[in-house]
Amino acid sequence: MSASPHTDALSFFEGIPPQSLARAFGTPLYVYSERLLRENCRVLKNLTDIPGFAVNYSVKANANPLLLRIIREEGLVVDAMSPGELAIDLAAGFQPHEILYISNNTRPDEMANAIAHGVLMSVDSLSQLDLYGKLNPGGRVLVRFNPGIGEGHSDKVITAGKKTKFGIAPGDMDSVCALLNQHKLTLVGINQHIGSLFMQPDGYLAACRVLLDIADQLPAPIRKNLSIIDFGGGFGIPYHKRDCEEPLDLARLGKELGQILSEWRTKENYTGRFLIEPGRFVMAEACVLLGRVTAIKDNAGIHFSGTDIGFNVLMRPVLYDSYHEIEVYPKKPGPREERLQTITGNICESGDILAKDRTLPALLEGDLIGVLDAGAYGFSMSSNYTQRFRPCEVLIKNGGARCIRHRETEQDLLRPFEGLL
Ligand code: LLP
Repeated sequence: MSASPHTDALSFFEGIPPQSLARAFGTPLYVYSERLLRENCRVLKNLTDIPGFAVNYSVKANANPLLLRIIREEGLVVDAMSPGELAIDLAAGFQPHEILYISNNTRPDEMANAIAHGVLMSVDSLSQLDLYGKLNPGGRVLVRFNPGIGEGHSDKVITAGKKTKFGIAPGDMDSVCALLNQHKLTLVGINQHIGSLFMQPDGYLAACRVLLDIADQLPAPIRKNLSIIDFGGGFGIPYHKRDCEEPLDLARLGKELGQILSEWRTKENYTGRFLIEPGRFVMAEACVLLGRVTAIKDNAGIHFSGTDIGFNVLMRPVLYDSYHEIEVYPKKPGPREERLQTITGNICESGDILAKDRTLPALLEGDLIGVLDAGAYGFSMSSNYTQRFRPCEVLIKNGGARCIRHRETEQDLLRPFEGLL
């Protein structure tokens, strides 16, 4: 194996040596490719040419406003699920009508904030529909249904089917209609999200059919106002690149989705929008996380390569046992033997493991590693645990790199205590 098979093949760094990026910006460092980000947006936008089809990027995957601007330029709209995401969406230039607020267990003040900004909101329980009606009588609303089909890479991210807090059961349709009538609400849309990361299209397509059936079940006076049907995200990417994992068959997904939507559209005379809501697919593969090897040790037969990528920087491996491919960018060129090693971070917990039992070129202090597919749920789930600073983010464009988020400093950690110390 060469040290950097995947990024070289993609020309990810566009000729900039990772070591020079690390020297200029420090590590850990989230490095994004504008070219790949734009490509991902275009692939999704072109999934089908059905009239009304649009892509609603799910900001929770990555909320850097400079990246959101690029996404906006590509013609995607966005979601928000918290006052913070809403503020970031607006700061990135999205207009209220380009933002769909899809939250759950939302506090009244948060709902009021979304309503005050003129943003359409989806509610996902009868009690939240009632609350919304009280706060915004006569308003427009979406309802999130549970289609009964869930998918995802971990139980923690399956958001439909049994044993999930999300969505309203289709069997509760009468209660939904009663609340809509009681508060004189107009149901402008219905939505769902089956979960995060599917690699086969079938479950998603089946759930799309279910949501359209749900639309059919709505009483005609309510159904006639529907102008948004949002099928949710979950589009997977192949994390196991060394094993040549097959990507999601988007050609098939797009073709079959197009057929389903086209038939339904004609049957119902529907002229509204059909949304998909991917987060991961847009961002994950457009980013490599760079980290520095800080120490090497053998302990009870395990060879540990210690780095500065603690789980405060990338939480996915610790939280979900997620697998990310690692590339090695040696400090000094020359042949390296491969060896079995466990790559860890710098947090004071034994679970702080980035990559377990990997056969990679033997790492040495000062080497860099690149963690692939780090753009989604990477930075957005990072934290200040152990009072470490959240990393810098840079964007590569036309062979140059610019900072799109400053590395945090002591001042950032101390700001919440201003006037209190
Ligand atoms: N729409 C809604 C309502 C969602 O809750 C989510 C993700 C998405 C869309 C986007 O899903 P995606 O296309 O990115 O799969 N932290 C986990 C993923 C959690 C996803 C939460 N909801 C991870 O690192 O894998």
